[in-house]
Amino acid sequence: MPFILAIDQGTTSSRAILFREDTTIAAVGQQEFPQHFPASGWVEHEAEDLWSSTVAVCREALDKGGATARDVAAIGITNQRETTLVWDRQSGKAIHRAIVWQDRRTAEMCGRLKADGHEPLFAARTGLILDPYFSGTKVAWILDNVPGARARAERGELAFGTVDSFLLWRLTGGAVHATDATNASRTLIYDIHRGDWDDDLLAILRIPRSMLPEVRDCSGRFGETVPELFGGVIPICGIAGDQQAATVGQACFTPGMMKSTYGTGCFALLNTGGQAVASQNKLLTTVAYQLGGKTTYALEGSIFVAGAAVQWLRDGLGIVKSAAETGPLAEQADPAQAVYLVPAFVGLGAPYWDAECRGALYGLTRGTGPKEIARAALESVCYQTYDLLEAMRADWPGAAGAETVLRVDGGMTASDWTMQRLADILGAPVDRPVVKETTALGAAYLAGLAAGVYPDPDRFADLWRLDRRFTPNFDGDMRETMIAGWKDAVGRTLTRR
Ligand code: G3P
Repeated sequence: MPFILAIDQGTTSSRAILFREDTTIAAVGQQEFPQHFPASGWVEHEAEDLWSSTVAVCREALDKGGATARDVAAIGITNQRETTLVWDRQSGKAIHRAIVWQDRRTAEMCGRLKADGHEPLFAARTGLILDPYFSGTKVAWILDNVPGARARAERGELAFGTVDSFLLWRLTGGAVHATDATNASRTLIYDIHRGDWDDDLLAILRIPRSMLPEVRDCSGRFGETVPELFGGVIPICGIAGDQQAATVGQACFTPGMMKSTYGTGCFALLNTGGQAVASQNKLLTTVAYQLGGKTTYALEGSIFVAGAAVQWLRDGLGIVKSAAETGPLAEQADPAQAVYLVPAFVGLGAPYWDAECRGALYGLTRGTGPKEIARAALESVCYQTYDLLEAMRADWPGAAGAETVLRVDGGMTASDWTMQRLADILGAPVDRPVVKETTALGAAYLAGLAAGVYPDPDRFADLWRLDRRFTPNFDGDMRETMIAGWKDAVGRTLTRR
């Protein structure tokens, strides 16, 4: 029976999940790696940590699953997106640590580009906004700041890639420099409409085209692993950024279907089909997936703090010992107290995009305690999701239908209380699937599709199973009052009103 090995290279850990032919999980390998914060707002990863942890977890999953390279029909890669690597083509060594998606060092560069009037062009071509979040300005920063880098890049000696591309290069022993359309769509230099790198944007950021990987479909033969890594050759047949892979794993293949993944942050993607919808409400337009040369687009809302708010309760305030305690604690909060947390620990992402504002708690009284703060933290995630859904409804009438359902995944979805509150605040049903590993499943599916192990998208969608549906049951007034309180709290927190 053939296995599919999914590599999920995330922000805090690398994981490898061995899937069976029936999409059940045979084994999991996981390893955390160090985070580097060399200056305020800077976040880096050591390229060799990304690589060695990935190889180690693949070996761990194969061992645990009792599988050899010969038993694996294909590898699928999914990854933290936007994180930027530049390496030497000759040695394969990175010339700087990976600059992580959360890193804000290019905020000034983005400000200058905006002031020079470039934002409309970037938005029209890439579907993104000028924010340090994306790869383009990070590549420019490396070329500007690593001695000799620009000249070497111009001589064709350097390669750029997001994490998928770097891993693919290493796994294939430097034979393949490629990426997929979803990862390319997060770089700020890729025209999502033409499906090619954009020479005008490259010129503005002074990035030589020779550095860039070839952009391919998400599912197809990218290359094969060198035999010495896993004791045999394994084809690499799927790549997608982690949020897009979760969209696939959640089988959101029809326009109007939406998923939201709750990890450190929260990323909601709405499938808009073949139409790249330009957001009027500060959402991103992005590639959901590309199969058989056909691009499917999504509107994306990116929130930087979701699970991180619960981590703050645990590690910062010490009011819970484990994340799992948060829901039960919140449930006991005094219903009469309207306490709001705006978790702008690193500014706010969509739809506000205010990098300068910082978090705030509102509505404190002498009676406020850990229960109310825990509830405010969990509700802040629900309200932020509500903001994204509202923006999506305004941008794309297809999302305004009464039947809008949100498919959820990620650590926070284990809390029934939070999922019920999410449904209540959204005023829309929230569906939690049986399979919680949707990101890895998405990567495995893309690889397994190309390898002939998994069926076409329609039949794969039939395999999606509901664990539980949370149905909204707030009365209208209560919901409106609560949402008005949230809007007021955010309004007070923003630096740009
Ligand atoms: O856009 C950033 C996102 O891809 C990071 O995801 O799950 O690694 O935090 P994660």
